[in-house]
Amino acid sequence: MREQQELQETGPAQTRPIRLGIVGCGWISSWHGRAVERVLGAELVACCDVNQDAARSFADRFGCEESYTDYRQMIAEANLDGIILATWPTDHFEQINACLEAGVLNILCEKSITADAAEVYEIWKAARAANALIVEGFAYRSHPSIALLEEIIASGELGKIDSVSATFDHFDAEGLSLDDPNRNWRSRKDLRGGVPFDHLCYCVNASNRMANAAPITVMAVAKESAKYGTINRVYGVIDYENGVVGMVQSSKGSNISNELKVNGASGSALIPSMVAPDRIPPREYAEPGETTEIQVKHGTDLFQWETKAVRVPAADSYLLQMENFAAAIRGWREPMIPLAESVYNVYTIEALLTSAETQTVVSVDVPAEVRDEMLEVFQKRA
Ligand SMILES: NC(=O)c1ccc[n+]([C@@H]2O[C@H](COP(=O)([O-])OP(=O)(O)OC[C@H]3O[C@@H](n4cnc5c(N)ncnc54)[C@H](O)[C@@H]3O)[C@@H](O)[C@H]2O)c1
Repeated sequence: MREQQELQETGPAQTRPIRLGIVGCGWISSWHGRAVERVLGAELVACCDVNQDAARSFADRFGCEESYTDYRQMIAEANLDGIILATWPTDHFEQINACLEAGVLNILCEKSITADAAEVYEIWKAARAANALIVEGFAYRSHPSIALLEEIIASGELGKIDSVSATFDHFDAEGLSLDDPNRNWRSRKDLRGGVPFDHLCYCVNASNRMANAAPITVMAVAKESAKYGTINRVYGVIDYENGVVGMVQSSKGSNISNELKVNGASGSALIPSMVAPDRIPPREYAEPGETTEIQVKHGTDLFQWETKAVRVPAADSYLLQMENFAAAIRGWREPMIPLAESVYNVYTIEALLTSAETQTVVSVDVPAEVRDEMLEVFQKRA
């Protein structure tokens, strides 16, 4: 295992286990719990949920030293090296700031890092001032299919890239009544539920990454759920500085689909399921030797084309994400997603929503200092 070799090379001073805590013991938390369990040199020592039962049962399941109902108490007492924020997007701003103030400077924050562009810029500035590591939890980016898609693009096999198309649809029959206790943040307007910061954020992230250039302007159409008042359908177009066009679609009115497709002058490449390429849950983990695929297509005219399946090893994205986070804490690796990219993500989403509301073309006006940092990232990746 890579980490094992690195631990041996680095020596005992660096090998004290990284002490992690988690805030939010809901749906996604066990994926992080299982990931930390399998990362050598990291342990989950504390957990917190406002729901005491959820916190206690998480602590029992993952062997935490202590469970809390107040995350501020946890970060004051638990002597943490890093924290996982698995709460709702509208909570993240306050929680990130509280962590930084308490000196917890390594943060893996679930997507969407915020549901507000001004907030994400404040976070970026605070992270810089504190020299903190803040990584947005887009686990799908750690899957080898994404790295392979990047390689296919870089190899020139698809020719000059023309467009990127990313969808995340998930039909919601809206069967829960407004006072149903099981109605979670996804259908609550006050928690900015709906698609923008739950599913559309993936599409924007993937489109921005594959275009590998700054988004300049956007146009979008959006629809609201009559029942919940949340935005439950967004269809957007993003115009990038390098001429690539992104098409992002996220709908709760359409059957499940989350394809990522990159279209070039001489071919296209498709990941059939961007966030779950291995289609493994509920079994959860890939068996050794299992593979998934990227579908590459080359056409010569309207009636002639060839498709090939490029095999990708199946993998647990959450484990790879956690390995990257732990290695970034130790300073061994760059974080998979630089914070400037997260700033771009939220600004792009907000521009799409403004465009839909005003029925105009809207500029993605990311602050110049973030833009400068991101330009370096684009150049490194080109
Ligand atoms: N990466 C992924 O694949 C993935 C999948 C699902 C959800 N998510 C993200 O994870 C986050 C949580 O989503 P979820 O589906 O697990 O939601 P959830 O509602 O199931 O869990 C959130 C938990 O946070 C707790 N909580 C809320 N405020 C809190 C506070 N101030 N202090 C302590 N606990 C608090 C809630 O009680 C709840 O148990 C969201 O940002 C979501 O977008 C990511």
